[in-house]
Amino acid sequence: MLRFSLMKILSYFKGIGLLLFLCPLAVKAQGTFIPVETKDDALVLHVTGEGDLNTVYFGKKLSDPKEYQITPQLYHEDETDMRNSAYTTAGTRNLLEPAIAVTHADGNKSLALKYAGQSTEKINADVSLIHIRLEDPAYHTEVTLHYQVYYTDNVIEQWSTIVHHEKRSIRLDKYASANLYLQAKSYWLRHYHGDWAKEMRPEEEKLTHGIKTLDSKLGTRADLFGPPSFMVSLNKPATEDEGEVLLGNLEWSGNYRIDFEIDPSNGLRLLAGINNYASDYSLKPGEEFETPKLVYTLSQHGKGEASRNLQDWARKYKIVDGEGPRLTLLNNWESTYFDFNEDKLSQLLKDTQKLGADLFLLDDGWFGNKYPRNDDHAGLGDWQVNKAKLPDGIAFLVKEAEKNDIKFGIWVEPEMVNPKSELYEKHPDWVVKQPQRPEYYMRNQLVLDLSNPKVQEFVFNTINGLFTQNPNLAYIKWDCNSVIYNAYSAYEKDQANFYVDYVKGLYKVMGRIRAKYPKVPMMLCSGGGGRVDYGALQYFTEFWPSDDTEPLERIFIQWEYSYFYPALTSANHVTNWGKEPIKYRVDVAMMGKLGFDIVVSKLSPDELSFCQDAIKNYKAYSGAIWHGEQYRLQSPWDNDAASILYVDTTKSQAIIFNYLINNRYGAGTHLPIKLKGLDPNKHYAIKEINLYPGTKSGIKEGVYSGDFLMTVGINPEVHEGRTSVVIGMDEAK
Ligand code: GLA
Repeated sequence: MLRFSLMKILSYFKGIGLLLFLCPLAVKAQGTFIPVETKDDALVLHVTGEGDLNTVYFGKKLSDPKEYQITPQLYHEDETDMRNSAYTTAGTRNLLEPAIAVTHADGNKSLALKYAGQSTEKINADVSLIHIRLEDPAYHTEVTLHYQVYYTDNVIEQWSTIVHHEKRSIRLDKYASANLYLQAKSYWLRHYHGDWAKEMRPEEEKLTHGIKTLDSKLGTRADLFGPPSFMVSLNKPATEDEGEVLLGNLEWSGNYRIDFEIDPSNGLRLLAGINNYASDYSLKPGEEFETPKLVYTLSQHGKGEASRNLQDWARKYKIVDGEGPRLTLLNNWESTYFDFNEDKLSQLLKDTQKLGADLFLLDDGWFGNKYPRNDDHAGLGDWQVNKAKLPDGIAFLVKEAEKNDIKFGIWVEPEMVNPKSELYEKHPDWVVKQPQRPEYYMRNQLVLDLSNPKVQEFVFNTINGLFTQNPNLAYIKWDCNSVIYNAYSAYEKDQANFYVDYVKGLYKVMGRIRAKYPKVPMMLCSGGGGRVDYGALQYFTEFWPSDDTEPLERIFIQWEYSYFYPALTSANHVTNWGKEPIKYRVDVAMMGKLGFDIVVSKLSPDELSFCQDAIKNYKAYSGAIWHGEQYRLQSPWDNDAASILYVDTTKSQAIIFNYLINNRYGAGTHLPIKLKGLDPNKHYAIKEINLYPGTKSGIKEGVYSGDFLMTVGINPEVHEGRTSVVIGMDEAK
């Protein structure tokens, strides 16, 4: 009705502006408005006269919240269908992609959700949590939408809980975490694809009408072909500093599904959640189903600002010890693979100290006796120290590390099993496989059934045992190298629940470990970036972006990850991949959490001294890299050289990394690069750091004002003879 009369008025005045000017109050919609507001943005929900909950606005915050009441008409809120429903149901009058679809106990497939109340919890001065309750008047099914608002960071986490009181179980055929609605002329989606050693390859495209779906069906290490991270620019592709853009990540480490549907009125319906593929979840009466969180941030000033919002939020609220320090380390994977013994490791422990790193990380190959882990065909699952390689156990290595004044960490892959293992012999029913079909392997291994509480206990005990036997164990690298083939659980009564219960079981174990060991650093690894999302990262301090440590490739991989994750979470190891000199490799790894995986004893004296100095420089500027703000100055995608700046929160120290990407004749930086994020009124002393022994600075060192550096810039003088250049900046008082 309202819409009908509005259209008449609109045609009379032939202009919305004029209409608003003349009679803003006259066009206000009926019902209740629920603004979900951050510092700069507002997501406004509207409860219609019929009790439907719709999204009527999502964008820059208005100074007068009363004016949100005008938006339903301007955005064509149409009560005949549900295109802007805040949580679209299936089976009644919805004609588009649903957020939720259920099969009731009586077989009926319809769901209608009407507004039933709301409440707000103040979590702290900056964070609040809004709950909006919806109920089906015909069936005893309830959904609560949750919006956790991080005001200053302009970040929202959104999820839903579903509960019913029917006589028997119902089936959740689809159960999204969030159902957003955006309004613009056009939408540009940036998303990522990949494979082993090829993670985070971006594609950016204009969305057209219909549905574009990003999804995974890999079960575990579900991000191998693509992570649940995305960007949507409104009206035009956003750049680093301009344009309206939404960045999001589904906090879920299993199968996910994110639908982008442009509806008939050109609104963008964004539905994100667990993938319902083979997962029509059976929910018992009274049992609450909680969907994972979708975290998102909206920026009016480009991708750079949006990424800083997410990075800041992650450090403050999500990752473990986000505001704490990180350990530099030496890892032995690429220097020894499975071939080591106490003598070799004792030497590596000494090398760790010589290098100046904080910790030695013992990788794969330290376990299994009946089936020793001498390659990747055997032993996985048998977490007893291999007596032939390490007769004196892990305790000996921890002590040796202490003697060398360094810490000790260890690799585990506790969710997996080799068929050639005692674990498999003892507990074949703990293994995910189809009983009547041949086994199929990725890297010669199978996945343990974490939906089974006994398996959860086993995995917890594996990690807990390592800590109780070695109280000084200082670091865990938690790997996950296989997807799920032949999904079948001998434990689950209902196979449709398996994929979801696997991840919930995994989180239960990770949560227990974290509760018992709240501070110990742990790296989330999955043969590279097969599992990088905020669902798992809430239990970890860092992740392994890719097994591809070739530094040129890494610049691109780290660049793209950085839009979603802060630098201190990105475990970057210097290895022997690629042809670039050690300086280039170290400079690239420093742009995150620095580690090494090289044979230190084979370094020349100059190389060693360069690495030792680089670690010192890294520590000196770690305040900016770990906890500061990241500004991408020049993209590797369309420049000869990439340039990235980190500035600390007081804007008194900064570091700039510059890398030559192109080796065509004459490629390099020919003009100054304008810096960002500095204080224009401060002065900064600029010097080139990480100089290779025997080389001199090639930049115009000196003291410059922030104003000059941000207006004119500085040339890092990157070219064929200087392929990577690191610049340190300190406030000159
Ligand atoms: C995975 C990891 C590597 C290494 C090996 C060990 O591939 O990504 O870093 O730990 O497993 O098997």
